Amino acid sequence: MDQRVFLYSVVGLLTAVLARYLATRGQKKYKFPPLVPGIPIMGNALQVPPTQQGQWAKDLADKYGEMFTVKFGASTWVFLNSSRVVTDLMEKRAAIYSSRPPFPMTQDIMSGGGRVVLMPYGDRWRQTRKIMHQILSTRQKDTFRDFQELESRHLLYDYLHHPDRWFSANGRYANSVIMSVVFGIRSKLDDPDVTALFETVEMFLEQQQPGINLVDGFPILAKLPEFLQWWRPRGLKLFEYTRGVYKKQLDNVKARIENGTQKNCFAVDFLKNNDEKYFNETQQLFTLGTLMEAGSDTTRVSVGQLIAGAATYPDWVVRARAQLDEVCGSNADRLPSWEDKDKLPYIAAVVKEVFRWRPNIAEIGAPTSCTKDDEYEGYSFPAGTVFVWNAWAIALNPKEYEQPERFWPERFLNDDLNNGLKGHWAFGPGRRVCVGWNVGEMNVWMATARLLYCFDFIEDKANPIDTMNIPQLTKNKAPFPVIIKVRSPAHAALIERDCLAATNAN
Ligand code: HEM
Ligand SMILES: *[C@@H]1O[C@H](CO)[C@@H](O)[C@H](O)[C@H]1NC(C)=O
Ligand SMILES: *[C@@H]1O[C@H](CO)[C@@H](O)[C@H](O)[C@H]1NC(C)=O
Ligand SMILES: *[C@@H]1O[C@H](CO)[C@@H](O)[C@H](O)[C@H]1NC(C)=O
Repeated sequence: MDQRVFLYSVVGLLTAVLARYLATRGQKKYKFPPLVPGIPIMGNALQVPPTQQGQWAKDLADKYGEMFTVKFGASTWVFLNSSRVVTDLMEKRAAIYSSRPPFPMTQDIMSGGGRVVLMPYGDRWRQTRKIMHQILSTRQKDTFRDFQELESRHLLYDYLHHPDRWFSANGRYANSVIMSVVFGIRSKLDDPDVTALFETVEMFLEQQQPGINLVDGFPILAKLPEFLQWWRPRGLKLFEYTRGVYKKQLDNVKARIENGTQKNCFAVDFLKNNDEKYFNETQQLFTLGTLMEAGSDTTRVSVGQLIAGAATYPDWVVRARAQLDEVCGSNADRLPSWEDKDKLPYIAAVVKEVFRWRPNIAEIGAPTSCTKDDEYEGYSFPAGTVFVWNAWAIALNPKEYEQPERFWPERFLNDDLNNGLKGHWAFGPGRRVCVGWNVGEMNVWMATARLLYCFDFIEDKANPIDTMNIPQLTKNKAPFPVIIKVRSPAHAALIERDCLAATNAN
């Protein structure tokens, strides 16, 4: 750190501490769950790992129980470590547990205030979410189905011919589904635009980790004069880069409208009906960009979890295959399709287990803040307290799930099988629940049914998969090694016959 930065940090911290002192003077006393010991001013910000906080937060849960409190600088985070308390607060009291804390770096600077996932509860969030809901809700199922059907054929073709690029193939699959709906175009394998998009996701996620940006822990620092905000130039650079990646897609839409080649798609309607009051250009770009980002990375990672689960716990794959073979033929007669969904309950259970097993999309959940003072089981919280559902700890708690480390789809073969949100927290709780969950679930269902029908996933004994430490940020590289083989020559022939055309269609 150079001296100037150091000096600014000290000035900033003193300002923050003073402001906090003034703000808490004469305030009524609140009572938080057990506080994890930290150091003065910074609290626990230097203890938290820079990425993948799941194991760290689970260890704390084992030590401190069902709820515990952590300080990241001046902000107070309460970790909810059982489905019971997550349901009680984030679902039953969603009216006041659905906001976001301020993120001066990642939201205000890096996203121009425009990333819906970080918007505080209020009118702008509601408007943006409503727009997204219109294209992602179950009403739109048929729109997505056709693209998932087509893109999953491309996926199988990629796995057959480029098994070493399976992770890129997952990314292309997910991205192409959402690009088709939003922009009316498809994506290619290792498309540079797709690669750039995944880079923006990682840049955002890297900066979003708790404890990374001092100003996100001490939002009061954002009140410093801009020339003293040493993080600002870096944030603006990331903002410009991200905006450029999104803008390229929107400019292409405009060019295609001009030359008459644009297909019907969400972006066209969005431009036509844009409400200027809510959507200036930056906000437009971040709405479309969020759809691309959130719609791509999450599916890519989830299909990766499926493969890790198949390679490390092969026993369930045999049972999944038995059902697939019964419905689609044991000699590669035809690919599974949407019409088979009701006849393949085991695949629905596999999809839920994919979402539960190692929740590494949001290992400690997403920070949500409450908008009013509240009391719960002897504790009392001031408005502005941050809450997270401790996803890793909950998913791996034997009191919640029998043999939690095992990939075991049977645990979901119950009356709630077809309620996609029930039994795990992969999409989050309450009103901030993933707005695209239904699309994400369908993406994963189609990939699961078809990949399991056609391919074997084998752990390389010399290079085993450490399923508890699958990296989340991978710079577009596969997060673990795995051997992928087509099940039989008949399955290879089926893919050649049924899937080649899907790689050429416009
Ligand atoms: C496999 C799939 C997916 C997983 C596991 C997943 C997971 C999540 C999680 C954990 C959250 C935070 C929820 C919270 O704070 O309570 C979230 C929010 C969100 N997701 Fe997803 N997601 C998936 C697919 C998608 C898709 C396909 C889209 C859109 C195309 C999408 C768009 C969003 C958006 C816009 C938000 C922010 C919602 C808000 O803050 O109101 N997601 N997702
Ligand atoms: C979290 O809280 C639950 C419920 O009190 C408890 O059983 C469990 O041991 C705690 N720790 C973890 C890691 O879940
Ligand atoms: C666009 O809207 C965002 C979100 O409210 C706001 O932060 C930003 O300053 C606006 N940008 C312009 C150029 O008006
Ligand atoms: C129309 O514009 C798009 C986007 O710039 C371009 O990729 C495409 O080749 C153009 N098509 C024709 C027929 O000019």
